[in-house]
Amino acid sequence: MDEFVIDGGRRLRGTTRINGSKNAGLPILIATLLTDDPCIIDNVPRLRDIRTTVRLLETLGKKVVWSKKKVTITHAKQLSTHAPYDIVKQMRASILVAGPLLARFNKVRVSLPGGCAIGLRPVDIHVVGLEAMGAKSTTTEGDIVLNGQLKPSKVKFRFPSVGATENIMMAAAAIEGKTVITNAAREPEIEDLADFLNSLGARVTGAGSSKITVEGKQKLHGAKHKVIADRIETGTLLLAVAAAGGDVILKDARTEHLTALIKALKKAGAKITPTKNGLRVQASGRPKAVSVTTEPHPGFPTDVQAPYMAYMSIAKGEARIREAIFERRFLHAAELARMGARVAVSGDAAFITGVENLSGAAVMASDIRAGAGLIVAALAAKGRTVIGRVYHIDRGYEQIEKVLRKLGANIRRLR
Ligand code: UD1
Repeated sequence: MDEFVIDGGRRLRGTTRINGSKNAGLPILIATLLTDDPCIIDNVPRLRDIRTTVRLLETLGKKVVWSKKKVTITHAKQLSTHAPYDIVKQMRASILVAGPLLARFNKVRVSLPGGCAIGLRPVDIHVVGLEAMGAKSTTTEGDIVLNGQLKPSKVKFRFPSVGATENIMMAAAAIEGKTVITNAAREPEIEDLADFLNSLGARVTGAGSSKITVEGKQKLHGAKHKVIADRIETGTLLLAVAAAGGDVILKDARTEHLTALIKALKKAGAKITPTKNGLRVQASGRPKAVSVTTEPHPGFPTDVQAPYMAYMSIAKGEARIREAIFERRFLHAAELARMGARVAVSGDAAFITGVENLSGAAVMASDIRAGAGLIVAALAAKGRTVIGRVYHIDRGYEQIEKVLRKLGANIRRLR
């Protein structure tokens, strides 16, 4: 298992381009199941989760050619409607095949993903949504089985789940008629998926708001699409620079995708200014403590909560972070404590009393973003940090050590 060795205390300087978004790339690749025509998806990050998605598409019957950032998906054989456990257990987003396959073939069988390090993560909102469109569901041998001919419907979510919104949008795109989703998720990745579904021939309006209308078509055609820049990679790098010190330009970063984080960073003292095609971040010494609560978009993103906690660990004063999306997304707190952070967790809140310096230690990544949090802490800390279980980080960040090294960090991968 790979490790990262980071000697902290170096300022970050220079320019880097943000990679394509993992969380937009995944559903868009899965949406190619909606057509037998070829699709070309560009700006796809080279990540473990994308590799898992490619394997999932191949298992279901697609031919996939991945060259650099471009993925070409063509029809190879009659699609299977069964997503097996050995893939689903590696990537929970596999549940997204349910909507498109059910809409096209009136049946689908997907292994239930089970819980994970950050929470229980049930799929009830996906299932209730598909049931509202006419599906019947049963659970057998650990799989969820859905049957029935879907009809355009009104689907109202109890919570704006990102994955469930994507699943229902894809299902609705493949059936004739108008489906309306209310209390839909508003994340930028939903808008990117909507753009792709529109280029396949569906008509999706309202994406980015909490009411999305999908006018589907029984037969969709192939399309080309370029995936948006990854706002979570952007957020992680903003926090890395703000915590470690320095001055960096992030090309392709989109300010409007990260307003809540940028507001908190500015309050804490970092300077963030838009550039022609991205943004510039300049650190300004020890941050002020600023409390935040994670929320569905456009609120503060749960996916940068761990890097933000690392940043607040060296702030002046006490910050409170409330995690309102996942039940147990504070595993990084104990690892940060090994580096000298003063964090107390009580229920869904973490209280961080900033210290002047963190110190390097041996720590372990428990999930993608917790790992990113440890990187931010290590870059700001005095001394050497060794981060174990880097495979978690590799699921969501494309060669982050190379990106950071280019900006002046002292980080290397031990294989
Ligand atoms: C997506 C992102 C993930 C991000 C999350 C929240 C991808 C591939 N992943 O995950 O990085 O952290 O959004 O912004 O895009 N829930 C239920 N029942 C359901 C579905 C969700 O109770 O059927 C709960 C979850 O357990 C969680 C919350 O709702 O507590 C948010 O989940 P959701 O928005 O669905 O996140 P994902 O799509 O899994």
